Amino acid sequence: MPYKLLFVCLGNICRSPSAENIMNHLIAQANLSDRIVCDSAGTAGYHVGNPPDRRMAIAAQRQGITLCGSARQFVKADFETFDRILAMDRENLVNLCALDPSGKYRHKVQLMCDFCTRHTLKEVPDPYYGGTEGFNQVIALLFDACEGLLAEVTQELAAGK
Ligand code: 4NP
Repeated sequence: MPYKLLFVCLGNICRSPSAENIMNHLIAQANLSDRIVCDSAGTAGYHVGNPPDRRMAIAAQRQGITLCGSARQFVKADFETFDRILAMDRENLVNLCALDPSGKYRHKVQLMCDFCTRHTLKEVPDPYYGGTEGFNQVIALLFDACEGLLAEVTQELAAGK
């Protein structure tokens, strides 16, 4: 069974699809595509079925990443399906925890920026109502966080977990 990562933001059209596709890129580079798989979801359902935001796709493409996928909403069953669930900001984390009132899955849910080694921001800012720079910043932050996350998951796999 591959190790399963789920990236979560609000709408699943900007930050979490970027995280998913950047992570898949790094996983493929590391020849780990059969060991680690990725998906993404939104806590809200406003954009279900939509492709990634065009502004986000342009920013990702500038760094060599093509955004694929269509938005879906997080469902409680995801807590069982995935090994780790990465929230883009604190609001996403609070909304996820509200769906797990007993705290059974709390150990699986983490903030994405906890894996950054070069950036100091603690959350991936919501770029939706901002300008181009916000989208570029999301991509830079997510490359950093995805590299840190891949290092940690690779260690965990090597340890046989
Ligand atoms: P995301 O960005 O959570 O990174 O996908 C947003 C997308 C849509 C909205 C807000 C944030 N919205 O309000 O529709």
